[in-house]
Amino acid sequence: MTKQTVLTGITTTGTPHIGNYLGAIQPAIEASLNSNYNSYFFLADFHALIKCHDPDRVARSTREIAATWLALGLDTDKATFYRQTDIPEITELTWILTCMTSKGLMNRSHAYKASVDANREADRQDDDDVTMGLFSYPILMAADILMFNADIIPVGKDQIQHIEMARDIAGRFNHTYGTLFNLPEAQVDEQTQLIPGLDGRKMSKSYDNTIPLFSPSDELYKLIKQIKTDAREPGEPKDADSSTIFQLYANFATAAEQAQMRSKFDNGIGWGDAKKELFEFLDSYLSKPREEYNRLMNDLGFVEQQLLKGAEKARSHAAPFLEDIRVAVGIRPLTWQGGSTAAAAKKEKEQSAEQLARAEEGRRRAILMQLKPLLDRVNSADDSATEAKRLIAEKAAEVESLKKKARQKAQNELDLLREELAALLV
Ligand code: TRP
Repeated sequence: MTKQTVLTGITTTGTPHIGNYLGAIQPAIEASLNSNYNSYFFLADFHALIKCHDPDRVARSTREIAATWLALGLDTDKATFYRQTDIPEITELTWILTCMTSKGLMNRSHAYKASVDANREADRQDDDDVTMGLFSYPILMAADILMFNADIIPVGKDQIQHIEMARDIAGRFNHTYGTLFNLPEAQVDEQTQLIPGLDGRKMSKSYDNTIPLFSPSDELYKLIKQIKTDAREPGEPKDADSSTIFQLYANFATAAEQAQMRSKFDNGIGWGDAKKELFEFLDSYLSKPREEYNRLMNDLGFVEQQLLKGAEKARSHAAPFLEDIRVAVGIRPLTWQGGSTAAAAKKEKEQSAEQLARAEEGRRRAILMQLKPLLDRVNSADDSATEAKRLIAEKAAEVESLKKKARQKAQNELDLLREELAALLV
């Protein structure tokens, strides 16, 4: 089966904070270690221009975000790590897709509608301060995704609509010009939506309640001291689960450490002490990557080099693919000959093989899920090999005893069990 492609971008307008780390960067780095996936991670610096017209801030954020990914151990040989603006093919694709996007679709975009709503609320004209960049933001994002035919897009909830729009746009393109694009899917991790900021609301730069990931120790402590708590005195039992301090701690701590902290809450730890514990824990957890971050921020030439290496890798895919796309839409060398659908036909064939393989894999997993108790029985037996053989014999007898239709189902299960347990059945 061909590898799935995971792709995600971070807009370069802010300083990476703990919410970005837990919600996006760390899971992405982890996924990049899984060799079943191709990973594309990038700095969405053209997206930054949509909402930020402060050049120094955009430039600073780009440096900080790049250094953060590297400081956290992203392996740039495993993942393709690049800056959006280093890939001119993305911008070119944006135009082609713009011509495949109905204005009505963009009218429905939450990002644009939020600005209109805010204007109405403030008695301003609907379009006050609404740029065409904001209006067509989802098209640039679709180009980011479709350029690499990404399958899985890990994003926050607020971005789901944009992935749906990318699917719509890809579908319209495929319908018009032949199937060149995958239909991407959003992947939203419910768990990480819940990381609270200093005021207890979701940690987000738009609420100004963030804890920067790599603040120096003294600043980190200052911020942690600002976390909102209730009026309970030291000695009074406290509910860990509703406490921002505990939730932040729990996102970094092992189960054992969490249990320990929970019992301190039960036993009435004072808020000041709880904050001190959180600070000491985070400070030591982050000290190594912070050191590396500071080192990289003083060696930006190296960071730049890493990005350029990533751009080269990304373009080795983007450039030939864009050629196919141009040919498909009729932008061709004058001397060009050949059917316009060659690339499309190839892709269609690949896709149907892949769809079949995916369906087969899904079917297999569904059956295995039902068989799990049986497999557990084998795995937890003292002598797994004997138990495996007994199970197969039982199942084979069941197949024999059954009538036609039920028999086929049991036979499928038997085949799967034989495959799963092959190592034990020799
Ligand atoms: N718009 C996204 C955000 O603000 C960032 C982004 C840009 C992105 N292009 C993308 C995310 C492509 C995923 C895929 O969070």
